[in-house]
Formats: sequence, structure tokens, C-alpha cells
Amino acid sequence: METNFVLEQPAYKTSTFQFLWKVFRNPLQALSDLANEQGDIARVKLRRRDLFLLNHPSFIEEVLVKQADNFIKGPSLQRARAILGGGLLTSEGDEHLSQRRALQPAFHRHKMEEYLPLMNENTLAHIANWKNGERVDMSEGMMRLTLNIALWSFFGSAPEGAVGKVSDAMKTLVRLFPLAQMPLPESARSLFPSFKEAKASLSGVIEALLQNPQNDRALIHILKESRQFTDEQVRAHALTFLLAGHETTALLLAWCWDLLAHHPGAQTKLQTEADAILGDCLPAPEDLEKLVYARAVVKETLRMRPPAWAMGREAAQDCEIGGQFIPAGSTVILSQWVTHHDSRFYDEPLLFRPERWFDFEMPLTPRYSYFPFGGGSRVCIGEHFAMTEAAAILAVVARRWNIAPAQREPALPKPSVTLRPDKNVKVVIARRAVS
Ligand code: HEM
Repeated sequence: METNFVLEQPAYKTSTFQFLWKVFRNPLQALSDLANEQGDIARVKLRRRDLFLLNHPSFIEEVLVKQADNFIKGPSLQRARAILGGGLLTSEGDEHLSQRRALQPAFHRHKMEEYLPLMNENTLAHIANWKNGERVDMSEGMMRLTLNIALWSFFGSAPEGAVGKVSDAMKTLVRLFPLAQMPLPESARSLFPSFKEAKASLSGVIEALLQNPQNDRALIHILKESRQFTDEQVRAHALTFLLAGHETTALLLAWCWDLLAHHPGAQTKLQTEADAILGDCLPAPEDLEKLVYARAVVKETLRMRPPAWAMGREAAQDCEIGGQFIPAGSTVILSQWVTHHDSRFYDEPLLFRPERWFDFEMPLTPRYSYFPFGGGSRVCIGEHFAMTEAAAILAVVARRWNIAPAQREPALPKPSVTLRPDKNVKVVIARRAVS
């Protein structure tokens, strides 16, 4: 039988035990070391299947775009159903496609015009309580701010106590995420009362949001009017957008403030731009294109501290990528952390240099050397929302406040379900004397 596959597999170059030990101790270093040892395609033998780490943009494109039908979400994400139910993040195949088509209009680029005023208002309300010279916890603060924005944008209100309940539940779920990852029956998970309580608390918030008669936002309109969604799916989607719609953006912003606090030169450029473009106004949709430096700060932060630091897929059938045979059932890992730090695509990848994103500096970078929002048909549906929100918040805050580090060293990245700072980002704020 003719085949293009290289059926004679080369010997495994990395010891399974060593790799797993490194993953246990430091997953980011483990993936970087694997890429350094083996190059664009790394392979490790696991108990029942092989694991492949693909490190070249064209191989990443194969998985996310060209052979996307053959790569289903890894079992770990399927297990995230234990938290999210059958929402957009966890569905597959035709079901995913039809859900995505139905929900897409709520996230179209032109919809940002509706969301931007809510982002601005919430940001102003958030910083209204700041006092000159005080120490501010940006990790906590950005979590609350983006959660309020998600509540107003997707559900049209922020009911009393909702922000506190969702933040508390999120903390519990992030702490217990490894439990959700284990292939346990639902009944076993229920043995952990805090897991059960966090889920019940979130369900209560979702119920209140869905019952609110004034809830006229585009997302809810689609969920309620489209006949394709069962009641259970409506709740699963609402929960997915509430959680996915604030947590990653909050982390991105906390990382932005950490990097800006430790790079005062970049902060000054951000402020100069915000002064010139915004003056006494809040960002309007047409300003976003002009906030070139703010967007470059966001992009550079997503490169250096990608909240989604690795994505897993499973090969449904035997296939081939870059001459490498990938057997059905193999786990394939694509890592934003590894690729975004690859010196073939980024000069001095460890340096925070927003200017590298100016068009003239970066004309020929391969498409998938940068994929903070994933790619292909499963690319993040909230990409425009998150980019708009982050750039607007940076500009509004930078126009009014100076941010200095309250900690001597920048935070270190700590990979969990998302890439979090190892300690909360704290800054000291000083009111700017702006004309
Ligand atoms: C900085 C902020 C964000 C980052 C870094 C991010 C990252 C990602 C990534 C990498 C994926 C693809 C996952 C995969 O293919 O396995 C994804 C999917 C998704 N994101 Fe985001 N996201 C962000 C903000 C948002 C926001 C604001 C929303 C909601 C409005 C959102 C909702 C979703 C949903 C529902 C999916 C699943 C899409 C699908 O499978 O069709 N995300 N996100």
C-alpha cells in the first residue's frame, strides 16, 4: 500500500520520566526545553499515546487550519465540561459550527461600537475611587473591572453581589481545576463541597441574569430567540461567556500594568499618545485605530505573557505533518509560550518592546508565529472584544494616572489553566497633572 507517512519512527530523544518530572516542576520550562532539544517537531512517549509538541508556524497552521477537521479538542478540554457544560468552548464538529454561526453576530467587529461606551463607563467608575499615592492590587482590580464589563456587555446589568459571587467561585474553580481535569465521574467531583458550591453559586448568578426582563443585549437575544439552543445549552453558553469573557482579559491587563510599571519609558509613550488622541474625551470607535502604541503594548504583552499559553488537540485519524507520522489518538500541543519566545521570529524575545509591532518593523513574520487567540474555525470569538477592551482601558487609565511598581521585581509567569502572575500585581498610583 502506498503511503506518504514515514512509518519508521525515529527513536524517542527525550526520556518520558524526565519530561514528566519537568512538567510537574515547571511546565513552561519543560516545553521550552523540549523544543530546544528536538526542534520543530518534538515527540515524547506517554503511557498509552505519543505526545507531539509542534513548534513551527506552518505546523501550527496545519493543526488549526489546514487539517483542523482531524484535530479535536484534547480530552482535558472535554473534561472542562464539568465546569462549563456544553458551551462553545467545549463543543465539537457540526454542533460547534452551527453554534458558532448563531453566536458570531454578537461579536462582530462593528458590535464593538456598542460595547466601547460600556467599557469606558465601567473603567471611569472603577478608577473613581483611586486615591493619590495609594497601593492598588491590579490583579484583583482588573478581574472586577473586566467582570463588570462582561456583565453589562453580555447581560445588560450587574446584579447586586454578582461580581463578588463570580470572583469567589472563579478562585475556587481555578484552584480546583486539576480536579476537573481528572477523569472522575461527576459523583466523585461532588465529594468536594467547595467545587459543588462554586458551581451552584455560578448557576444562581446565571439564572438571575437570564431572568432579568431588561436584558436586551445581543448575546442574550440570540440565545433566547434562536430555536437551536435547549435551556441547558443557553445556560452553558451564558456561563462560558461570563467566565471566558473576563478572566483572560483581566490577566492580560494585570500583565500589561506589571510590564508598564517596570518600563517607565513605554508608559510615558502610552501617556503621550493618550493625551494627544483623547484629550478630555473617552475613546470613540474611530480613536482605536489611532491608539497605535496602546494596541502595540497589548500585542507585546500577549506575546510575552500569553494568558492561553498552550493548547491541546487529539489526532482523530492517522496523519502527517512536516514529514512526521502522527498516529490517531496522539496528543498534539501547540504552545504560544514557546513560539512567542522563538528568536527565529522575534529579535531579543525576552525584551518588552511594543515598538516591534509597528508595521514597518514586522513586515514578514509568519502568520502562526503569533497566535494568542488560537486560529482557524476555533479562533477566540472574543478576540475583537478583548483587544478593544484592553486598549481602551490602558488609554483611559494612562491619561489620568502614573503607575509605579510596588514590588521590586516583575511578577513571574505561573502556568495554570491560564498564565497567571505568581503573585498579585501591585502598583503605586500617582495622579497625573494633565492639561
Ligand atoms: C486576552 C483575552 C483572551 C485570550 C488570550 C483568549 C484566548 C483564547 C484562545 C487561545 C482560544 C482558542 C482555544 C482553542 O482553540 O483551544 C479561545 C477560544 C474562545 N474564547 Fe477566548 N480569549 C480571550 C478573550 C475572550 C473573550 C473576551 C471572550 C468572550 C467574549 C472569549 C470567549 C471565547 C470562546 C467562547 C472561545 C471558544 C471559541 C470556539 O471554540 O469557537 N475569549 N480564546
